[in-house]
Amino acid sequence: MKPLSTDDIRQRYLSFFQEQDHAVIPGAPLIPENDPTVLFTTAGMHPLVPYLLGERHPQGKRLTDVQRCVRTQDIDEVGDASHLTMFEMLGNWSLGDYFKEGAITMSFRFLTEVLEIPMDMLAVTCFQGDSDAPKDEESAAIWEKMGIPRERIGFLPKAKNWWGPAGQTGPCGPDTEMFTWVGEGKPQGNPATHETQWLEIWNDVFMQYNKTAEGNFEPLAQQNVDTGMGLERTAAVLQGVPTVYETDRMRPILDRVRTLADQQDTRSERIIVDHLKAAVFIIADGVEPANVDQGYVLRRLIRRAIRAARQLRIEHDGTFAPTIANAVIEEYGHIYGHLKTKQKEIRDALSGEEQKFGATLKEGLKQFEKVVAETGAQIDGVHAFHLYDTYGFPLELTKEMAAEKGLSVDEKGFAKAFAEHQKLSRAGAEKRFAGGLADHSSETAKLHTATHLLSAALRKILGNHVYQKGSNITAERLRFDFCHPEKMTPEQLKEVERLVNQAIEADLPISFHVTSVEEAKEEGAMGVFDERYGDEVKVYTVGNEKTGTVFSKEICGGPHVARTGMLGHFTLVKEESSSAGVRRIKATVAGGPEQIEIAHEREA
Ligand code: SER
Repeated sequence: MKPLSTDDIRQRYLSFFQEQDHAVIPGAPLIPENDPTVLFTTAGMHPLVPYLLGERHPQGKRLTDVQRCVRTQDIDEVGDASHLTMFEMLGNWSLGDYFKEGAITMSFRFLTEVLEIPMDMLAVTCFQGDSDAPKDEESAAIWEKMGIPRERIGFLPKAKNWWGPAGQTGPCGPDTEMFTWVGEGKPQGNPATHETQWLEIWNDVFMQYNKTAEGNFEPLAQQNVDTGMGLERTAAVLQGVPTVYETDRMRPILDRVRTLADQQDTRSERIIVDHLKAAVFIIADGVEPANVDQGYVLRRLIRRAIRAARQLRIEHDGTFAPTIANAVIEEYGHIYGHLKTKQKEIRDALSGEEQKFGATLKEGLKQFEKVVAETGAQIDGVHAFHLYDTYGFPLELTKEMAAEKGLSVDEKGFAKAFAEHQKLSRAGAEKRFAGGLADHSSETAKLHTATHLLSAALRKILGNHVYQKGSNITAERLRFDFCHPEKMTPEQLKEVERLVNQAIEADLPISFHVTSVEEAKEEGAMGVFDERYGDEVKVYTVGNEKTGTVFSKEICGGPHVARTGMLGHFTLVKEESSSAGVRRIKATVAGGPEQIEIAHEREA
């Protein structure tokens, strides 16, 4: 096994798949574009859903990347050896190209030849089969052919060896997962027989089905492969360290925490490293602490980190979180350049939240005195939980302060209140995911096209300083954020609405072509032109170049409707401020046909 650095593993992964004809594409931001059903990008496949469903990807049929991911389901459980809120996923994809044989062969070669993991340290699992899909003997046979002995191959049900859809509908299929031995002594059995001694590091998903709204599994027109390897876990295995926190890039952050702390507590230290690292990446992708959505998750992460800091008796007057952020930026800024360009915003947001939370804790002390004045010999669970949930008092803190007054705390009652709260917030999170990953209904395609018309119309009316700052589409409305220094006048709004409707009435054709970023820029296509583009991009044109009726030209992944007439009628609902120098428009379309046609590649 090679004791490779985290940077090395990342690089070797991309190089290996590049050698196997995969195009290296940039990872997407943590905040999904045009997908309001999930808060964060949770896997490398998320930004690729349209292509997994058959849209053409400009870089071809074999892709590879490193995707920063945030998974919030288990925030309350962070602190063990291998779970992280934010992690990096190495991935490779086949969009209707190679399937099981190709994917497994490449995975096996990367593990054994590039990472040099000895074969007897490896085990795999395959899907055991049920009424929806047969047992995956095909994958097992390929593993055996590679040399993995039968006793290292476990078969597990859907709960384990099936991936997706990420929402309620969409691409999904059986997967085969790869594990390394982390138990004591010689490797034994497989993950089905010795679950806790095998650590999952990689997952190859064979997307052969589309789950429909009725719950049926229909074969996909195109068979895809979606793989994801956990970078931090793999680094821990190769570096021979017991937890992800001890790997070369995480360890310096942990050490920074320890130099600030007066006390030792492994769980608190890990929570700080995990949460503040995630917070740094989330802020860098444009989120600020708030009471809803991504901003709320961010706020919770920062506050939990500060609570953990209190446990370690670390000062938190507004400089603690920024100090840890510096360590994160030092370890990751050379790979994620935007952490460096955004370092001031990152430090300011963390410092502000740290100070705000300090004030909340002071309020909490007052509340604590009130509870004590009203209580008997024991503080009940509901009050203790209220102190925890609203004022950020860890149970330990409440217990300590209660003890100073000769009181006890009902810990069982606290645990009960805590569990109830968790159940509620889980239900909330599940609802959030249940909407279906990107909703690729005809309504969202219409609104997506309407967004292009709107942004072109805004430029025509307000000037070329207008460009997109954000876009968010639900089945009901579009929301478009753009740079513009002042409130739009009623006349301007009317003009924009009129222009868009004029373009709809002209029933302009829409098509795309694939070209280089440079050429797209040259031909005047709008775009964000940041690190998110690969070498080749898709440019969607509304109108006809030959007849000089081009209304809009924009770099975009799609999908879009085939003609503007399908939008029906466009209505501006609201114009408001979004943040300094950024305006926000909400708009709807109505009256178009229910069944739409999707825009195709233009004929050469
Ligand atoms: N989407 C799969 C996962 O998240 C493989 O990348 O595990």
